[in-house]
Amino acid sequence: MQLKSKDLLGLEGVSREEINLILDTTESFHEVSERSIKKVPTLRGRTIINFFHEPSTRTRISFEIAAKRLSADGVNFSKSGSSFSKGETLLDTVKNLEAMQADVIVMRHGIPGAPHFIAQHLDAAVINAGDGAHEHPTQALLDMFTIKRHLGKLDGITVVIVGDIAFSRVVRSNIYGLITMGARVILVGPPTLIPVDIEKMGVEISYKLDDVIDQADVIMILRIQLERQGKVCLPSLREYAKLYSLTPERMKQARPNAVVMHPGPINRGIEIDPKIADGDHSVILEQVSNGVAVRMALLFLFAGRKELTEKR
Ligand code: NCD
Repeated sequence: MQLKSKDLLGLEGVSREEINLILDTTESFHEVSERSIKKVPTLRGRTIINFFHEPSTRTRISFEIAAKRLSADGVNFSKSGSSFSKGETLLDTVKNLEAMQADVIVMRHGIPGAPHFIAQHLDAAVINAGDGAHEHPTQALLDMFTIKRHLGKLDGITVVIVGDIAFSRVVRSNIYGLITMGARVILVGPPTLIPVDIEKMGVEISYKLDDVIDQADVIMILRIQLERQGKVCLPSLREYAKLYSLTPERMKQARPNAVVMHPGPINRGIEIDPKIADGDHSVILEQVSNGVAVRMALLFLFAGRKELTEKR
């Protein structure tokens, strides 16, 4: 079994078999991070460039650690300090990176579709590490890996995703992935943060967390993306917290074994109460650990794709 595409640009159109291949490969790399010597020679001699045009803590460091654990040469590149300020275009920049024989370019960019644009012009594999409010496929894969580890399956489970549905790239990738894997997805948030017609993606909608929380195997909380919301979508964060924050009080209605997730960064006291974020249901830091294994699997699966395309 092989992945169909040279790149991982999103989970839209990625099949159940491909997702299973990625999750199974992740399982085999997960163990490497638990050893005292956390390194294998798998990608020795490969070059991975992390190209982050937007702020990132978890995703960038996770890709960096993943490359190091596979013995690849990883190089980090960020907007500040680059020649963007001298007027160089995005395409010229990445063509230069490829001329230095990069095998994989991991890209985060504020503009939706930026990784898709560069992928068309490069032989190197491109992995989308978040493009605007569009997709964040590696986050959804690590979320699915974490869920599978806890519940044993994705098929038939109910995932309630709460918060800023309109501006979250994490939710879009999770919807594509979870629906493909046979999960039931319920989106919850204020009407101003739920896009019209999103039901067409195969999801259900609720405007009240209290109405659906008891059905959840997984409660996934999203940050309010204030930096992306051009206009005011909420009367106040206090009112939002009153209706949607995951508090100990609200958690009493949840199933005893419900799993609480958040992609980070957390705004404590707004979308989630610290007692829940740090409590027994929370797997938030496990998501971060699993993120390294997922990215190791993806670098492994995509670093060899360039040669395959060249041979064709
Ligand atoms: C998310 C992102 O940047 O899209 N964080 C992440 O990658 N772990 C979510 C967010 O910013 O709220």
